[in-house]
Amino acid sequence: MPANFFKIWLPLWNLLQKQCLGTKLKVLDLGAGPGTSTFSLWCFFSLLARDNPDREFVLDCCAVERESSFVKIMQSLDATYRSSVQTDNLRINLRVDQKDIYNYAACEKGQYDLVMESNVLNCNETTSSDKPKSLPLVLMNKLKEPGTLILLEPGKEKNRNVLGAIQQLLANYPIMECVVPPKIHAVPLGGLSLLKSAEKLDIRHTHQEKHWFSYAIFQKGCEQL
Ligand SMILES: C[S@@+](CC[C@H](N)C(=O)[O-])C[C@H]1O[C@@H](n2cnc3c(N)ncnc32)[C@H](O)[C@@H]1O
Repeated sequence: MPANFFKIWLPLWNLLQKQCLGTKLKVLDLGAGPGTSTFSLWCFFSLLARDNPDREFVLDCCAVERESSFVKIMQSLDATYRSSVQTDNLRINLRVDQKDIYNYAACEKGQYDLVMESNVLNCNETTSSDKPKSLPLVLMNKLKEPGTLILLEPGKEKNRNVLGAIQQLLANYPIMECVVPPKIHAVPLGGLSLLKSAEKLDIRHTHQEKHWFSYAIFQKGCEQL
């Protein structure tokens, strides 16, 4: 979780720089695990809220995760983490649903400003009955206009292929623009004290200076970008 935590900041930063990140967002986090991307989003917005005390920020989040143990971790982290990011001008709601994302996306009625997934669609996570490449088509209908889809996957070629396949598929739908095509990037891990502590305690055995990942951003009907 610490190694993955800040990855979502890069696409968020891209959107912010292009003035395409709203201040009041309805957010769907698919395959949330312990809540990595959702809590990281909270942290990002907390900094924005502190820097812009005259503006009101709202995050109305829904996280979907199939493993009950992760759901429990996310709920328990919510109880403690929320207080460290909360400011007077940032309102946060969170619902955690223990569901399968492939069934959920098809039947859930919500309309979202931002849908994100991190490390869920690659071949390490999917089973033969999952259809990762078809999911963005379903998600397209879940997005408001304008709405944003952020996909994050590991950096290894076999894991990041899925992003290229999704890009090709969505190219058939003019309403969905690929505003950041799949690209790889690395997070430096040296500054994460939690990882250093984990290594000292001998509970993290891989020592890496950098953590490589891939990401892509698709926008539904936004002409500003
Ligand atoms: C590698 S973890 C990533 C967790 C988190 N998104 C992150 O980036 O740290 C993948 C997560 O996706 C969940 N997952 C995989 N397939 C799923 C599905 N079909 N429905 C719901 N959750 C799923 C797994 O249970 C796991 O928690």
